[in-house]
Amino acid sequence: MTTGEVPAGKLPVLITFMEMAKRPEGTARPMPEGVHGPVLARHCTLAYYRFLYDTIGEPWLWEIRRRMDQGELARMLADPQVEVHVIHVDGMPAGFVELDWRLLPADGTVAIDYLGLMPWAIGRGLGSWLLDWAVRRVWERPRVRRLTINTCSFDHPAALPLYQRAGFRRLRQERKFVDDPRRAGVLPLGAAPHIPLARPAPPAPPHAPATPDGAPSQAGDPSRRPMAFRPTAGSP
Ligand SMILES: CC(C)(COP(=O)(O)OP(=O)(O)OC[C@H]1O[C@@H](n2cnc3c(N)ncnc32)[C@H](O)[C@@H]1OP(=O)(O)O)[C@@H](O)C(=O)NCCC(=O)NCCS
Repeated sequence: MTTGEVPAGKLPVLITFMEMAKRPEGTARPMPEGVHGPVLARHCTLAYYRFLYDTIGEPWLWEIRRRMDQGELARMLADPQVEVHVIHVDGMPAGFVELDWRLLPADGTVAIDYLGLMPWAIGRGLGSWLLDWAVRRVWERPRVRRLTINTCSFDHPAALPLYQRAGFRRLRQERKFVDDPRRAGVLPLGAAPHIPLARPAPPAPPHAPATPDGAPSQAGDPSRRPMAFRPTAGSP
């Protein structure tokens, strides 16, 4: 995929889908010094969740929860099958892991929807420990057959090798173009400066065509288009 082929307003992304089909061997990683938790944010409020998600995700173009219907997100957070576990350092939230048990009864699948650290907490060994903690917590439960996690090329470069070392294997990869959330106004233009901004899309024609039911077309409003891909860890 060369730069010349990237459509205006879009970014190329590579998503890696991974799974772990057996419980980890060996002993658990020791908890790094100075960490408290993980604490399950029971009945996690939308505001608290968005604080975590937005602060952690902005440097990595995490956008799906920002674009989601916020009522739907609040309902998802109220579901006890979706667990947000938060770690603290020096009294401050330092990161979270989101476990999604909703598919467990159907086929034994559990998903790590998100794993992320606050920018100031990166690179101190917290991520590998938190992942190990989450993996072991999942496999403690009966009927678990597989654990999934995704990562994409916008994520921190440590994520993919970290998951591989933890025992996840690559299932498949998908290359696609996604709307640049900064161009769409979903994230600040200055977010993730290491990822070059997409070329601006040409201005919309002055009179956007009406849809068959007479409603104005949303084609010029990328932030209102359907999500580009499903919301799991590593999907931005
Ligand atoms: C990905 C993330 C969870 C890793 O946690 P972390 O605490 O920063 O990483 P750790 O300090 O535990 O280091 C993990 C390993 O990655 C290695 N690593 C660090 N930087 C790296 C880089 N740029 N490239 C490859 N490996 C790297 C470390 O050497 C370490 O290896 P080791 O376990 O053999 O010592 C964390 O960086 C993060 O939350 N990033 C932002 C959000 C994100 O991208 N989340 C992943 C979504 S899928």
